Amino acid sequence: MADTITVTDNRTGKSYELPIEHGTVRAMHLRQIKANDADFGLMVYDPAFTNTASCRSHITFIDGDEGILRYRGYPIEQLAEQSSYLETAYLLIFGELPTRSQLDQWVHDITFRTFIHENVKKFMDGFHHDAHPMGMLVSTVGALSTFYPESKEIFDEEVQLLQIHRLIAKMPTLAAFAYRHSLGLPYRYPDNDLSFTGNLLTMLYRMSEAKYDPDPVLERALDLLFILHADHEQNCSTNAMRSVGSSHPDPYSAIAAACAALYGPLHGGANEEVLRMLTQIGSVDRIPEFIKEVKAGHGLLFGFGHRVYKHYDPRASIIKTMAHRVFEVTGRNPLLDIALELEKIALEDAYFIERKLYPNVDFYSGIIYQSMGFPVAMFPVLFAIPRTAGWVAQWREMLQDPEQKIARPRQVYLGYDQRDYVSVERREPGGTPVASGAGQAAR
Ligand SMILES: CC(C)(COP(=O)(O)OP(=O)(O)OC[C@H]1O[C@@H](n2cnc3c(N)ncnc32)[C@H](O)[C@@H]1OP(=O)(O)O)[C@@H](O)C(=O)NCCC(=O)NCCS
Repeated sequence: MADTITVTDNRTGKSYELPIEHGTVRAMHLRQIKANDADFGLMVYDPAFTNTASCRSHITFIDGDEGILRYRGYPIEQLAEQSSYLETAYLLIFGELPTRSQLDQWVHDITFRTFIHENVKKFMDGFHHDAHPMGMLVSTVGALSTFYPESKEIFDEEVQLLQIHRLIAKMPTLAAFAYRHSLGLPYRYPDNDLSFTGNLLTMLYRMSEAKYDPDPVLERALDLLFILHADHEQNCSTNAMRSVGSSHPDPYSAIAAACAALYGPLHGGANEEVLRMLTQIGSVDRIPEFIKEVKAGHGLLFGFGHRVYKHYDPRASIIKTMAHRVFEVTGRNPLLDIALELEKIALEDAYFIERKLYPNVDFYSGIIYQSMGFPVAMFPVLFAIPRTAGWVAQWREMLQDPEQKIARPRQVYLGYDQRDYVSVERREPGGTPVASGAGQAAR
């Protein structure tokens, strides 16, 4: 059996045999299909890329029907149990788990780049007192490119690696400074004796004490959450990273774009919606009424459903188990009882079963972050810190891929055909009626 597909164009009666590679058809192979000689050739229309592979990748594998997530082949459950965020970051970027000496060097290279230039503090100070920390993160990470002008040498391996170290190292510092600024608190410098997440906690929470001792359970919980959020193949922000990166700016500018994509409530902000929803429900006895409303089409059950997963999101089950350990330290978040009961009722309900709606990563993560003392505005920031590993891994893979070019989609143009300019005196309200175009494909 040939790995091809035969397409017949009913406009012309012509047939075309197109190769199938890795379960895909190259969109460019469709271009030969033309209604006539003047025709541009067939294109694919796929708003939101719901069925378009934009790259070939070796980094992250998701099987949404089976609820499988693997980084470089390693199941997320094993990494969550046995790895650390920095080790996982190395795996994502370089493709293999590091040896002991590689890991030590990697951790050292990142740990000793956690400080940021003092001038960053100055422009941080310029933000309004109630500026959103994510807005501050987007701007300050982009601004780092001005401190490292050599970073635009993106194909120089050494320079590239240095920016990767800097980005992973400095994101927690920028995040913590943004948080402290929003509270009007003095910035706290990194403590390089601590782990990656221990250092983040000290920069966030240290007050007058000379040395901050992060709680080991919270330190580990945060590290685990960072492993789970480190990459998720071609999601919206990663697509932004690759798209902006494809025009070859320095990586700080591309990461700023990725952060901006993550800022949106449909991506990095869903766990905030979950908290709002659970707070609104207020008590377990009000859940059936809430579910009834959702089924009637009045709102969504936030934290449920996923574009890719049509099964329990494997990250959600890991977080759910971890929640109990966190609550032993922080005290039980009363919203957890509502969440657990909501999940139980929803998973037994035909509406959710038929639509394959299961808890996603955001269903429990917000409850944990809230219990750890983070305000909701910090949730997307806490997502951006670990996702930086995934963003740089995907960016690096893109730069090494000879098939990648500047990202530039096509469009289906449905606007006006050519029309003549009308002077302002002769224009009518609502525009001068002119026949619209018949849908020409753009060249
Ligand atoms: C994540 C999400 C955007 C995926 O959307 P999608 O793949 O485009 O799925 P659709 O919107 O086509 O949903 C399919 C059906 O399930 C319903 N549905 C999807 N998510 C739902 C939810 N969370 N609550 C209630 N109904 C939901 C849709 O209304 C639709 O029903 P219909 O077939 O009767 O029209 C969507 O599930 C959602 O909005 N979830 C809540 C937000 C959230 O938790 N986001 C975080 C994702 S990590």
